[in-house]
Amino acid sequence: MQVGIDRIGFYTPNKYVDMTELAQARGDDPNKYLIGIGQSQMSLADQTQDAVSMGINATLRYANQVDMKTVDLLIMGTESGVDQSKSASLFVKSALKLSPEVRTFEIKEACFGMTAGMMIACDYVRLHPQRSAIVIGSDLARYGLGTSGEVTQGAGSVSVLIKANPGILTIGADHSAYSSDINDFWRPNDSPVALVDGKYSTEVYLDFFKRTFADYQGQTQKQTSDFAALIYHLPFTKMGYKANRLAVDQQDTAIVQRLEQSFTASAVYSREVGNIYTASLYLSLLSLLENGQLKADNLVGLFSYGSGAMGEFYAGQVVAGYTDHLNPEKDLALLQRRQKVSVAEYEHLFNEALRQPEDNVELVSDEEEGYWYFAGCKDHVRQYKQK
Ligand code: HMG
Repeated sequence: MQVGIDRIGFYTPNKYVDMTELAQARGDDPNKYLIGIGQSQMSLADQTQDAVSMGINATLRYANQVDMKTVDLLIMGTESGVDQSKSASLFVKSALKLSPEVRTFEIKEACFGMTAGMMIACDYVRLHPQRSAIVIGSDLARYGLGTSGEVTQGAGSVSVLIKANPGILTIGADHSAYSSDINDFWRPNDSPVALVDGKYSTEVYLDFFKRTFADYQGQTQKQTSDFAALIYHLPFTKMGYKANRLAVDQQDTAIVQRLEQSFTASAVYSREVGNIYTASLYLSLLSLLENGQLKADNLVGLFSYGSGAMGEFYAGQVVAGYTDHLNPEKDLALLQRRQKVSVAEYEHLFNEALRQPEDNVELVSDEEEGYWYFAGCKDHVRQYKQK
């Protein structure tokens, strides 16, 4: 029996910042952002979109196409948690009207959180093949105005349904994990924005990739040439590009070409959305599935990295007919519906979103009909509504 991804849903908020305009406002050469970092736009969440509402919106992309009664596990990976105690997934469970018998909780290890959830969910379904699980990654990447990390911000969520005999990607039980207690990126409890040792974080990312990819190959006897695609956590697209260069080093031209083309396809959405922390690797997967040239049984390698730090490499195989489970037109429409905001407007919305909204004041969302949003707090209890 095979286990893996049967559905994949994506949501990103309805506003974006143009990277050329941001570079000009910061006095930088736009090519640094467009080429050096590899980002064209970044999605922006106002006060009314948080990890919960984005997670609901991502899951609703497929919820009416599957039998939700089989779901008895809901895991949410996020580092943008809305409460120090209550799991963000409980709000999501309520909005999705999942059964009270569902086991649900939130996981945190920086950007690795969704992969941790995926691994637990796959093992769970291997033991309970009649059941299925939802795993959500949902995050707001925030470094602060005028910081060197600013160009690598973003907002969005990816949700996947894990089940037996999946329609998109089977996930093998082999994996290679590596961890180390380091300080490359973190967010203290009293800080709404991340602190980062940027250059160091990029070095550790590449080091963890080299280690886990080599270890995976040693364990499984798989060669680089066996992969149709290698995809990566993309804090910014140049980061994945650098890892991919390491992977294809000393390979034949045809293999280099194949893995570079598939990498480019995997980076299309992240280039426009920015870093969405936990969900970034799975946005790369969606982008590859919808913009690449995959065929049934193709092997796809996935590298997950979470600062702090935890890395993991694993692989999946493409299922015949996988395109029937996707909706690239809708994903494109989701990106294209976003309104560009000026840098001044972005700065205003950014600062506003960092503040705790006043209690008992209802927030109004300018999202389209059908989307969920955070409507403020009533007696300190968070309220979520659907437009
Ligand atoms: P920086 O100091 O602003 O940029 O920081 P730089 O000076 O290193 O330049 C960046 C690149 O642009 C360089 O290319 C320059 O040469 C190039 P590279 O040498 O790297 O190939 N460049 C130009 N290219 C074309 N035309 C020009 C031009 N000028 C310069 N005119 C940094 C960049 C990424 C460090 C910063 O944005 C940052 O700190 N970002 C946040 C941290 C981050 O994303 N780290 C990634 C690894 S850690 C990770 O992935 C985990 C994470 O997602 C968090 C989690 O796990 O939760 C972050």
